[in-house]
Amino acid sequence: MDQVNGSAVTEFVLLGLAQPLGMQFFLFFIFFLFYVGIILGNLFIVFTVIFVHLHSPMYILLANLSLIDLGLSSTTVPRTISDLFSDCKVISFHSCMIQMFFIHIMGGVEMVLLMVMAYDRYTAICKPLHYLIIMNPKMCVFLVVAAWVIGVIHAVSQFVFVINLPFCGPNNVGSYYCDFPQVIKLACMDTYQLEFVVTANSGFISMATFFFLATLYIILLTVRKHSWNTLSKALFTLSAHITVVGLFFAPCMFLYVWPFPTKSFDNFFAIVDFVVTPVLSPAIYTLRNKDMKVAMRKLSQQVASSREMA
Ligand SMILES: *[C@@H]1O[C@H](CO)[C@@H](O)[C@H](O)[C@H]1NC(C)=O
Repeated sequence: MDQVNGSAVTEFVLLGLAQPLGMQFFLFFIFFLFYVGIILGNLFIVFTVIFVHLHSPMYILLANLSLIDLGLSSTTVPRTISDLFSDCKVISFHSCMIQMFFIHIMGGVEMVLLMVMAYDRYTAICKPLHYLIIMNPKMCVFLVVAAWVIGVIHAVSQFVFVINLPFCGPNNVGSYYCDFPQVIKLACMDTYQLEFVVTANSGFISMATFFFLATLYIILLTVRKHSWNTLSKALFTLSAHITVVGLFFAPCMFLYVWPFPTKSFDNFFAIVDFVVTPVLSPAIYTLRNKDMKVAMRKLSQQVASSREMA
């Protein structure tokens, strides 16, 4: 047999999402619809922010988050859709490794971006007079670059262990995508310590981040210092952020921390992160935000007037 890294496994077998044929068409329809929604919704936010010149840090960060959302769901959803109708859902060793790597880069960047966005709101609400000085363009660039650096470190620090594992026989991943917890279990060695590394890295980081964010947002909601007027204005934005944070982190915690994984639950939770959060966050952010609605109207007017001139 072909040898990859001294191991015998050259491909992994993925689990299908649904067995009955009728379900496949239904799932295809749902996934396809959601993925189109993810692409259109997130690109729409990016274009709106760039072309309507929403220069405030909040929107620049939001556009970055949209790109990451798009990237995160692209690591799995297209493959899942195309796998729905194939009988033998094999993924090559290399594709599997690449998929895990990018899931964790995108997931890591997304986590840090959500923290950066919380910090941005904290500054805007608690230090309104210094907001534009603190969140200056240089700071924005720094925070976004930091998010990428941390995301890459997060992915690489797990990847270096997993890429060198010996895989000698079992190759059934037991999920519809490759991720560290499932793939590690297939290695022909005692992986207890490695599982701990992954749980610590992905699990505790997502838990710590979530509790940090939850505390921060609760403080923001309860701080008495600011007037009711500022708070009620902030309330919409904050509740949008809290919804996205909750939706993103709950599945992460279940996937990496929960000690007794059950496949159906795992699959369900993963779908939330790859499909539901990326499609919901543009919807939540745009529909609940006045500036965004005004910007969309401007954008559509621009498009309309350029069409008249043409
Ligand atoms: C992401 O953030 C960087 C740094 O602030 C900014 O220059 C860039 O325009 C943002 N990306 C988008 C798509 O808005």
